[in-house]
Amino acid sequence: MRRLGKYHLVTELARGGMGIVWLAEIRGPRGFAKRCVVKELLPELARAPHRRAMFLDEASLASRLSHRNVVQTHEVGDEDGRWFMALELLEGLTLRRLQELAEPRGLRPALAVRIASEVLRGLHHAHELGDERGEPLGIVHRDVTPQNVFVTFDGQVKLLDFGVAKSRAPREETRDGFAKGCLAYMSPDHVAKAPIDRRADVFAVGVILRELITGERLWGDADDRAIVCRLITGEVPIFEPRHVARVPSALRRLCEMATAAERAERFTTAHHMAEALDAWLSVEDPDGSLVSELVALFDGELAPARDEVRASLRVARPLPRPPPVPARARTTELATRDLVPIPPPPPLPHSVARRGAFTRRETFTTAMAVIAGIAAIVSVAASRLDDEPERGSPDVVATSDPDPTP
Ligand SMILES: Nc1ncnc2c1ncn2[C@@H]1O[C@H](COP(=O)(O)OP(=O)(O)O)[C@@H](O)[C@H]1O
Ligand SMILES: [Mg+2]
Repeated sequence: MRRLGKYHLVTELARGGMGIVWLAEIRGPRGFAKRCVVKELLPELARAPHRRAMFLDEASLASRLSHRNVVQTHEVGDEDGRWFMALELLEGLTLRRLQELAEPRGLRPALAVRIASEVLRGLHHAHELGDERGEPLGIVHRDVTPQNVFVTFDGQVKLLDFGVAKSRAPREETRDGFAKGCLAYMSPDHVAKAPIDRRADVFAVGVILRELITGERLWGDADDRAIVCRLITGEVPIFEPRHVARVPSALRRLCEMATAAERAERFTTAHHMAEALDAWLSVEDPDGSLVSELVALFDGELAPARDEVRASLRVARPLPRPPPVPARARTTELATRDLVPIPPPPPLPHSVARRGAFTRRETFTTAMAVIAGIAAIVSVAASRLDDEPERGSPDVVATSDPDPTP
């Protein structure tokens, strides 16, 4: 099995443009094993200094985030030119997978809203991150997509992949000139290469929410070029008449505000959008619960998908064996063990000894004494019988022959 630093790489979970995501283990004595995820920068990219710098940016930013809605990063390291970061292992599905399984119906609106609200809480934590002096870093995730949101089997929602997140720094551009990230969730300001702020992430969550509720992609089958053209002219698709019955009007308004082409019309922060969604929930679904609804989904309709993931994580691992011992040493060990005298049992307490079983010798002695006793009694009785006829013969004669005379 391959190793990277102190991590044993068990199996590959995913492979993206930047790296490989491994299921990994840290091992300790007596079969101790703690599972985690190791995200390794692809070796060919690790040779390029700017890629390494991006990877380190992601790791150092992610390791400073600590929030229940953000995957936890443990450490970053390099070994022989291989760069990696270690993360907590999440057991669940990406939101993309959940979305695919729920299509074409879409999720229950209240569940979709709860998931979006959690993503916004995680994003707000990142947006608010400050430097050592507490000055805001102006972080923008820039790649909020359903592939980068994870929903765990126990009902948690976690934001992943700060790979292209930036803090007020020039953006990385892809070779064909588009800003990095997935176009289908990008805002017009992001595509226009204007300096972006946290409202670009708010836009992305708005798109995700709309897609989760309607069960349809915002851009349908449009290709990247068509999407860019429409975004540049500020055309963001609105809800279709067929959605009206399914999506309550107040919720439609919230989604449209989040995805406003003009960013000044969007929620100013992720926190504000989360508050608005929670307010909607408090009216429309006051008794609902994210955890119980997700757990019910994974225990019911989505159980096959859950079991498939669990099986892939349950990679058979043989129990740790003791280190092999050379044949001669083993013989010596056995011989030595055989020669060790077995210590005598401790003396029994008096009361226990009296109740205890006889030893063989005691049994033999007792039996011999009983036999001798019986033999003595028998011989005394026999000698008495020998004497008896002389003393009692008239009675005997009289009994057997009462009238002997003719
Ligand atoms: N901590 C984790 N636990 C479980 N799966 C993960 C974890 N991190 C990433 N993954 C899986 O790996 C995929 C790619 O990870 P991501 O961090 O998004 O890297 P990339 O930069 O390649 O997109 C995710 O979509 C998810 O399926
Ligand atoms: Mg990703």
